[in-house]
Amino acid sequence: MLLQIKNVLTADELLQAQNIISDAPWVAGAESAGKQAADVKNNQQIPHECDAARAIRNLVLRGLDRHPTFFSATLPKRVFPPRVNRYGGDTNAFGNHVDNSIRFAPDTGLRIRTDISCTLFLAEPDQYDGGELVIQDLGGPRSIKYAAGDAVIYPGTTLHQVAPVTRGYRLACFFWIESMVRADEQRRLLFDLDTTIIAMRNATGDNAATVALTGTYHNLLRMWADT
Ligand code: NI
Repeated sequence: MLLQIKNVLTADELLQAQNIISDAPWVAGAESAGKQAADVKNNQQIPHECDAARAIRNLVLRGLDRHPTFFSATLPKRVFPPRVNRYGGDTNAFGNHVDNSIRFAPDTGLRIRTDISCTLFLAEPDQYDGGELVIQDLGGPRSIKYAAGDAVIYPGTTLHQVAPVTRGYRLACFFWIESMVRADEQRRLLFDLDTTIIAMRNATGDNAATVALTGTYHNLLRMWADT
């Protein structure tokens, strides 16, 4: 499931993140990639262990924690600490690749299976040309470029790339989620059911049908979730 998650960061948090980034150090992004990805990865990242990186990942994790759509769509078990990257100048693209299946969280050493990939945009689309996240979806390539503060989630299994940035700088956070529900199609069913229950409740208030469907949701989650 490919889904836009709007307003993960508030306008104030976004400004904070952009200010932090303006003073941050940068290193070559290829250092944290697997062999195939490293060969096509040409961007920069903020080193994981610096104050700027720490401050931004705290902002982002807090934004994700309070976002009901993020929770419902990903059913997170573990979230890889978000990292910040930049595309522009001579380091401006990331060719086609599939993300590594297993990541080791730098802080805890925990293994995280990358069921879902996430990009959170930190620069406004009019601040740079190019830089679309191009995801090979079943129906063909999908070109993604959202407002700063919005995120996209997509299956970790997909082939994707970041198109060359030809003007300005594309700033973003990227990270992965290991979901309590491993299969994308099961997560999709749960998300659709949850969304529908909420719509019914908003329209009519709770009644016997919404209570029963809520029970069904939780019973499906109990059957499928690995906590
Ligand atoms: Ni990737």
